[in-house]
Amino acid sequence: MSLVEEAKKQAAYKAVDDNFPPHAKYVGIGSGSTVVYVAERIGQLKNKDSFICIPTGFQSKQLIIDNGLKLGTIEQFSDLDIAFDGADEVDPQLNLIKGGGACLFQEKLVAVSAKKFVVVADYRKKSDVLGKQWKQGIPIEIVPNSYVKITKDLKSLGAITVTLRQGGKAKAGPIITDNNNFLIDADFGEVKDPVSLHNKIKSLVGVVETGIFTNVASVSYFGEEDGKVSQWT
Ligand code: 5RP
Repeated sequence: MSLVEEAKKQAAYKAVDDNFPPHAKYVGIGSGSTVVYVAERIGQLKNKDSFICIPTGFQSKQLIIDNGLKLGTIEQFSDLDIAFDGADEVDPQLNLIKGGGACLFQEKLVAVSAKKFVVVADYRKKSDVLGKQWKQGIPIEIVPNSYVKITKDLKSLGAITVTLRQGGKAKAGPIITDNNNFLIDADFGEVKDPVSLHNKIKSLVGVVETGIFTNVASVSYFGEEDGKVSQWT
């Protein structure tokens, strides 16, 4: 296993071991490669038949099924005891950039529905200011026919580049989210005021949600290069 992969696993296992509520009934499971280890660890719990897991998209639905966990939907269970998810970048105030895997709307819905939201990541995700490490830009889910207008609007808000996320090697066409929307990546450089930037983008007609998560994470676990796990709270 590579260093980064081991770091993801260590962070995920410790996050579950430290935080999983013994009497949890409803548990949110996020998306990405680090959450694979969260689902694996939760799948090892002896009481895994006593709670229901709520996915944030297609991949996490498969993870829940593959680890022998019970599957539910956020429509059935909208008050979660805890949720675990990865992040593309984390700052010391626990502001996050998410959406690298294109699931940001459902990820945010699940995160804000949980009493406790726990982030799992490797050492590369730590950043003193959002936008410093994650160079791809802020992921933004949008209603498909608004992309031309929103591209112009984002440039007016100061975006350096605005890219419609496309699929496949040939970039043959826009990727479609789990909610049948498009995704834009807008690079604003370093984001000094994530709340303000989120609010400005969110107010544009056609924007479904932004990948800026503020005031939602309780703790973030980072697998480090030396095999240890650090925490930001
Ligand atoms: C998907 C996400 C992921 O949680 C984020 O991209 C982190 O993924 P990984 O654990 O693979 O680095 O936001 O939309």
